[in-house]
Amino acid sequence: MLKLGFLVVLAFMGYWIDHDICVEGFGVNWGTMATHMLEPKIVVQMLKDNGINKVKLFDADKSTMNALAGTDIEVMVAIPNDQLLPMTDYDRAKDWVRRNVTRYNFKNGVNIKYVAVGNEPFLTAYNNSFVNLTFPALRNIQNALNEAGVGDSIKATVPLNADVYFSPESNPVPSAGRFRTDIAELMTQIVEFMSKNQAPFTVNIYPFLSLYANEHFPMDFAFFDGTPSPVLDNGVEYTNVFDANFDTLYSALKAVGYGNMAILVGEVGWPTDGDKNANLNNAYRFYKGLFAKLASNRGTPLRPGYIEVYLFGLIDEDAKSIAPGNFERHWGIFRYDGQPKFPMDISGQGQDKHLVAAKNVQYLPNRWCMLNPNATDLSKLANNIDYACTFSDCTSLGYGSSCNNLDAIGNASYAFNMFYQVQNQLDLSCDFEGLAMVTNRNLSQGTCNFIIQTGKYSISHKVLPGIVVLLSGFIFLLL
Ligand SMILES: *[C@@H]1O[C@H](CO)[C@@H](O)[C@H](O)[C@H]1NC(C)=O
Ligand SMILES: *[C@@H]1O[C@H](CO)[C@@H](O)[C@H](O)[C@H]1NC(C)=O
Ligand SMILES: *[C@@H]1O[C@H](CO)[C@@H](O)[C@H](O)[C@H]1NC(C)=O
Ligand SMILES: *[C@@H]1O[C@H](CO)[C@@H](O)[C@H](O)[C@H]1NC(C)=O
Ligand SMILES: *[C@@H]1O[C@H](CO)[C@@H](O)[C@H](O)[C@H]1NC(C)=O
Ligand SMILES: *[C@@H]1O[C@H](CO)[C@@H](O)[C@H](O)[C@H]1NC(C)=O
Repeated sequence: MLKLGFLVVLAFMGYWIDHDICVEGFGVNWGTMATHMLEPKIVVQMLKDNGINKVKLFDADKSTMNALAGTDIEVMVAIPNDQLLPMTDYDRAKDWVRRNVTRYNFKNGVNIKYVAVGNEPFLTAYNNSFVNLTFPALRNIQNALNEAGVGDSIKATVPLNADVYFSPESNPVPSAGRFRTDIAELMTQIVEFMSKNQAPFTVNIYPFLSLYANEHFPMDFAFFDGTPSPVLDNGVEYTNVFDANFDTLYSALKAVGYGNMAILVGEVGWPTDGDKNANLNNAYRFYKGLFAKLASNRGTPLRPGYIEVYLFGLIDEDAKSIAPGNFERHWGIFRYDGQPKFPMDISGQGQDKHLVAAKNVQYLPNRWCMLNPNATDLSKLANNIDYACTFSDCTSLGYGSSCNNLDAIGNASYAFNMFYQVQNQLDLSCDFEGLAMVTNRNLSQGTCNFIIQTGKYSISHKVLPGIVVLLSGFIFLLL
């Protein structure tokens, strides 16, 4: 009997663990800084096809929200940093909550769980611009949610970069973690307020950036496969920077009396292009380790158990600022067109699979722009390449990137084509003072993909069914 009882208990625990994995899963960040965005309905279908049931947004755009309506997908909507100032006024905050949250709170509406107030507002790069705005905005938004009667289920939080905490150089271990000195008091107030409202602390953790920022950073420590030289902290061994980073935050929270606070990882991921360490193999390795870790519910040494994470990001964004680095436009687990980039083991149990691609994506015709081989006046070439790359995404040409092995002619064609695609293949956009020409030959070579952009999705919607269009002498029946 005893034995059986023991087995039953184990089975029951097993059930709960599995159940947790299925129900909780992981979330994704759905950013929209792209020249050619996939139709929100297509993206939402792609999320469903992949069983992804949590999504973090960077605003509360109407078309995105409408596409999410009627699904069970849990949503974090957001207030961008440039709208924090108005939110310091309570009436404006109430209005924001009315227009972007409670408006979707009906049967078959949007399952909003969180409001992100700002995005990494205390980054040192922002020169304190949002330091005095964030807490008042957070307070107003949560109070407005509470006043609207949804505060029990919808929590306001502030996604913060890991640079809000640190461990001293004299004792660089996770257990010595504290909030950054210049904002320590502010962080304490924010944490106290969020804790009182049962809101989670949201932190973005980027092992890739640790590696990118420091050429002496031990490569193995960025991943989850173990390292010959772990960090030792009071008898605890840290074998990866994710755990070390997370526990540094835990220690900072504990030091101000909130060691029990829920911590949510708002962004974590690995880019696939735009740097020597940003490639498919490393991204595959990173996610494989991350998913195995999440599935085991092992947590970190100081905070064992389930960790809620949102991957960054869902789809590549070719219009993102590259001030931090060329890799910024290549964070997607999907390409710009909703094609999965590499196999993933999202169950964390050794089952590599490609994610399900976006369906019904329209492409522009198979036409590329290239350097005309007969062009003679090459003195204008550099200026024209510059122009093309200023208004399109040439980040794959850089050192260590997928198109870095092209010759000078290939470089020019790559730049011209990127511009031509961004311009929806307008004839005039493949001229470059007579240096360029259109071709229907796929110019891709090796790892370098000469892309065809996605078509304007509005086309298929604006044309009424059954209309006959005469085009170049051919008759197309658009159904
Ligand atoms: C909130 O909703 C309003 C009204 O629909 C909209 O204009 C605004 O852009 C939304 N805010 C965000 C951050 O998306
Ligand atoms: C912050 O200050 C530096 C130096 O004064 C300046 O170059 C930079 O543009 C500022 N950044 C922002 C976001 O204001
Ligand atoms: C924030 O407010 C404090 C107190 O009012 C003030 O001393 C400080 O200059 C402000 N900081 C910024 C960046 O505006
Ligand atoms: C390049 O010049 C050759 C010889 O004049 C000609 O046959 C060819 O069609 C030209 N190619 C293009 C793309 O203009
Ligand atoms: C191609 O362009 C990249 C990026 O501008 C540059 O690093 C590389 O040297 C160029 N290659 C050739 C052969 O010009
Ligand atoms: C062009 O060729 C590359 C490499 O063979 C391939 O991956 C890509 O799908 C092709 N593009 C199109 C539009 O057929």
